[in-house]
Amino acid sequence: MTNISIGQAQKLTAPAPFALLSVRRPDGGTNLMAVSWWTYLSNHPPMLGVCLSKKGLSGSLIEETGQFCLSIVGENLKEAAFRCGTCSGRTVDKAKEFGIPLEDSSVLSVPCVSGSRVVFSCRLAGQTEAGDHTFYLAEVAAVQGDADVPQLFAWDGYARLDTL
Ligand SMILES: Cc1cc2nc3c(=O)[nH]c(=O)nc-3n(C[C@H](O)[C@H](O)[C@H](O)COP(=O)(O)O)c2cc1C
Repeated sequence: MTNISIGQAQKLTAPAPFALLSVRRPDGGTNLMAVSWWTYLSNHPPMLGVCLSKKGLSGSLIEETGQFCLSIVGENLKEAAFRCGTCSGRTVDKAKEFGIPLEDSSVLSVPCVSGSRVVFSCRLAGQTEAGDHTFYLAEVAAVQGDADVPQLFAWDGYARLDTL
């Protein structure tokens, strides 16, 4: 083995999980962000965590609203979902521009992505600084799923999305 960078390690450990994180904007709209750095944290109560760059819009919206949905989207959104990781909600209404269908979450006032394999409806439970990112801990208020939807993963160090 040789010494490698953290970025090279992230390529070597692909595929990574992939989700679209949705959060309410102050104008009542919904922002969407591509997220690979999410993980389960607890079963009782069900909890998960997402690690978001301090530069993006989504983290500040989570802090303002205290809730978000994490949608494990299907193959049908391969291109559109990737585009949600290439621009900020500060300048683009991503759901509208990229034609991503939203529907009401079963328990929260933030929409999730329609036709997903799994949707986690999450309430913010805490946060901690992690270098250039912030790690948000959330309680999962509801989970929905559809095993027939083929799951997308991130490949080549987040360079593209595809199924297994
Ligand atoms: C496949 C993929 C996975 C990504 N995963 C993350 C992630 O886990 N955390 C993060 O902060 N940014 C991640 N990004 C980058 C953000 O999605 C990107 O910075 C986005 O523009 C932020 O949007 P926002 O400013 O609307 O919040 C990822 C991008 C791609 C393409």
